[in-house]
Amino acid sequence: MSILTVESLSFKYLESSTLALKQVSVAFEPGSVTAIVGANGAAKSTLCYALAGFIPHFFKGEMRGSVHVNGADTRETPLAKLVTQAGMVFQNPFNQISGAKLSVFEEVAFGLENLGVPHDEIKARVDRALDLFGLEGASDQSPFALSGGQQQRLALASIFVMDPPIMVLDEPTSQLDPEGTREVMGTIQKLATQGRTIVMVEHKLEWIARLASRVLVLDHGALVADGESGAILSRAQEWGLNETYYARAARLAQERGLVSAAGSLPQTLEQATRFFGNRHVVGTENRN
Ligand SMILES: Nc1ncnc2c1ncn2[C@@H]1O[C@H](COP(=O)(O)OP(=O)(O)O)[C@@H](O)[C@H]1O
Ligand SMILES: [Mg+2]
Repeated sequence: MSILTVESLSFKYLESSTLALKQVSVAFEPGSVTAIVGANGAAKSTLCYALAGFIPHFFKGEMRGSVHVNGADTRETPLAKLVTQAGMVFQNPFNQISGAKLSVFEEVAFGLENLGVPHDEIKARVDRALDLFGLEGASDQSPFALSGGQQQRLALASIFVMDPPIMVLDEPTSQLDPEGTREVMGTIQKLATQGRTIVMVEHKLEWIARLASRVLVLDHGALVADGESGAILSRAQEWGLNETYYARAARLAQERGLVSAAGSLPQTLEQATRFFGNRHVVGTENRN
């Protein structure tokens, strides 16, 4: 039974003359981690908006087809109710700050206050969310005083605190340095192992290979590939995407005749270790 279902979804923004999304159908299983990849303008963000109900409730336009979040038709369910089912982190975390709250603590508490959650419980849940995303020291700061990376952590904490079963993350580490990315991806992985359903737009293919079991490829608004992440990543160049640095290293080594060319290219560190470790490295003993 799928927790999130998209059927023949097409969408045209109000101000636009072309379709942003074209006949997309896809369903997500509970507890799965799925990555969405594709070139700039492929409609990755637009699909995220539709998954979380911001289309049609916030972004106006012409929507055909349907999206069901935990059984609820997004068209017929108010956004205030949908956010308890599917939380979304926007590509630009700055856009997500309410502007109504003076401190990071209050900003994270905002959604729970709207739900009428008791004060003590709010305090406990917000503290836990701030801790989880490494913001415990920033609790009293203004959300607008934060760095881009911290605003990204704030956006993640603000949706985590609502405890939605589905999390839609649009480039959640784009503002973070490699260390911050490692921390946040580790937390996302933990949330996934706790059973949350995660859909994540991400450009860092090494992280996709590590976290996601499935990858969707969007191209000009159409879903052009959908499959197991290793299989999709090994074909990344077909869609003009980069390859993981593990695959690149292995391919270059093959092309230069440094290792024998056989089998599929590695996509993760573990696979790369096996790839290079198991292979006969040409030229060490029996070349010439
Ligand atoms: N608010 C908007 N109004 C009108 N057109 C938009 C809006 N947001 C995105 N688009 C258009 O929809 C298409 C898909 O954009 P987007 O979903 O942001 O792609 P991606 O996230 O893959 O880069 C693009 O052609 C973009 O210009
Ligand atoms: Mg985008």
